[in-house]
Amino acid sequence: MELRKVVVLGSARYVPERIMTNHDFEKFLDTTDEWIVQRTGIRERHFRAEGECASSMAITVGKKLLAQTGVDPKDIGLVILPTVTPDYMYPPTAVIVAAKLGCVNASGWDIEGACAGFIDGLYTAWSALATGDVKYVLLIGSEIMTMTADYTDRATCVLFGDASAGVLLKSVDESEYGVEGIYLGSDGTHWKSLYQPAGGCVKPTSHETIEKGEHFMKMEGQSVFKQAVKTMVTSIERVLEKTDTPIEDIDYFIGHQANARIIESTRRKLKIPEEKMYVNIDRYGNTTSATIPLCIDELREAGKLKPGTQLVLFTFGAGFVWGGAHLVWGS
Ligand code: UT7
Repeated sequence: MELRKVVVLGSARYVPERIMTNHDFEKFLDTTDEWIVQRTGIRERHFRAEGECASSMAITVGKKLLAQTGVDPKDIGLVILPTVTPDYMYPPTAVIVAAKLGCVNASGWDIEGACAGFIDGLYTAWSALATGDVKYVLLIGSEIMTMTADYTDRATCVLFGDASAGVLLKSVDESEYGVEGIYLGSDGTHWKSLYQPAGGCVKPTSHETIEKGEHFMKMEGQSVFKQAVKTMVTSIERVLEKTDTPIEDIDYFIGHQANARIIESTRRKLKIPEEKMYVNIDRYGNTTSATIPLCIDELREAGKLKPGTQLVLFTFGAGFVWGGAHLVWGS
């Protein structure tokens, strides 16, 4: 079968209005603005308003994407929603989003890829679009990370924020633009380094799990940090090997925003010039599957993405899972 190209038609983002600064944390937690900035690069993040959820934020992003690209919602064949904070355990939040957007001919599913969710979703969208079976895909990462953070655990709660962001992808006959290649990896032996102990079938939610705070995220920060740098470097190298592209040809590197020091170590190891590594963690914190499309959308809005601009997306997260994507902007 002749495979088709998959291009990005547009990008959009939504962040809740409420800003939570590092100084706000100083009021109830044994922490300081100085520690958080030095150790993570984060200055502020956004917290949801009451009632905001993964679907409501994704619907806002979806409406923006449809308006920006002029695509008829009836032509969307798939809505893919990477999230670890779905509206409900089931049904998939993606079908709620599809219905509210009028995507009546679309299937919809969630991807529980944690911080790798966006690139996992891109891989899935790419596969579906490359066959031509589907013409348009909405891919939107949407995370209410504040519901999984423990606000008595200073080592994790300061890191995360809420946000949603995504792209609209199209299948085309031929193009010099679009997805060039994707590399994905995982090592599940580390699953306990970053996880939520209760709420799944191993430990269903009970009075006891709630009393013990097992419905909150647990993380071994340092081991996660080391693996993140190692696998992010590998992800960039592997995807560029796959697409046979010299690293110097890439205009922007857009990494998962978990910690500014992780991104900086990755940049140094690969000798990437500072101006090519996009960082916005200072304003949003870690928004899991939304971090990469948040960066993409800021770059697009700033007029930095021109037809032919070469991007490498790279990520790492709970599992561990990691990956990289090589994408040429334009449609
Ligand atoms: O997106 C998914 C992937 N997630 C990540 O990639 C996160 C990876 N890990 C990290 O980003 C870092 O490990 C953290 C930011 C979580 C922690 O930074 P660190 O430099 O590794 O600190 P640490 O865990 O080694 O802790 C150093 C000290 C400890 O105090 P003692 O034991 O030395 O007295 C911590 O208790 O810093 C303390 N600490 C804090 N102090 C002030 C931890 N959190 C805080 C805090 N404020 N918020």
